[in-house]
Amino acid sequence: MNIGLFDSGLGGLIITKSIIESIPEYNFSYIGDTAHVPYGSRSKETIYNFTKNCVDYLFKNQNCELIIIACNTASIASLRRLQQEYLKENFPNRRILGVVIPTLETVIENNYKSIGLLATNGTVASNVFNQELKKLSKDIQLYSTPAPLLVPLIENNGDKYARPIIQDYIKTFENKNIEAIILGCTHYPHYKNIIKTEAEKILQRKIDIISQDEIIPKKIITYLQNHPEIETNLSKDGKRFFGITDITESYKQQAYSIFGEPIKIEKINL
Ligand code: DGL
Repeated sequence: MNIGLFDSGLGGLIITKSIIESIPEYNFSYIGDTAHVPYGSRSKETIYNFTKNCVDYLFKNQNCELIIIACNTASIASLRRLQQEYLKENFPNRRILGVVIPTLETVIENNYKSIGLLATNGTVASNVFNQELKKLSKDIQLYSTPAPLLVPLIENNGDKYARPIIQDYIKTFENKNIEAIILGCTHYPHYKNIIKTEAEKILQRKIDIISQDEIIPKKIITYLQNHPEIETNLSKDGKRFFGITDITESYKQQAYSIFGEPIKIEKINL
């Protein structure tokens, strides 16, 4: 059986690549919902339905034992409901994991006291990062800034326009004494270096970048070690499947450029 990875679009290929590199022996199936990206400004109900359809495909057509919802927006809008309703009714022995809690655990492990969050409109408006952080610690200040222009830039090869936009987002953290910035969206690791450079320049101090492509692979390894009942069901033939819900030449090229090497990407019909 496979490990499934889901994202609203192609940005999830960044984290997928780092997961595959850290545990290459497993079989992976990736779905990007390019027919509906971006999710960031959509309603919770709509995001839930889109995510459920893709998760259902991963379980039924890709024989996934475990699915990681790599998309923060989808994790926030749908993870709990998928676990409590969909999984219970359809696949009670399989698992769906999200990315928000593992990211916040990293904040705690590093003893930060003041941090910034860059994320989509939906993620920031949900306030879920803040609520979940308060359950882990009451002493950490989280300052959230919506960064909605970054996903369309990444999905449309707009890198040359990114720097001034990133500078504007980072200015919202001035005078907050932040020590680190969480990249709370699958796509943002693409701009990790620019975000760090601009943050240190503007905020005049060392700023750590909490990037899910670095955190999540380690968390998955720990999860598999702690859950042999899941791990033993996973196939280890190193097979990969990359599917998207809408396909164009430009999506194929972006997938290549985001993943960093040629991949065979197919259109799936939901
Ligand atoms: N993948 C989404 C996330 O991690 C962002 C892209 C979108 O808006 O669909 O939040």
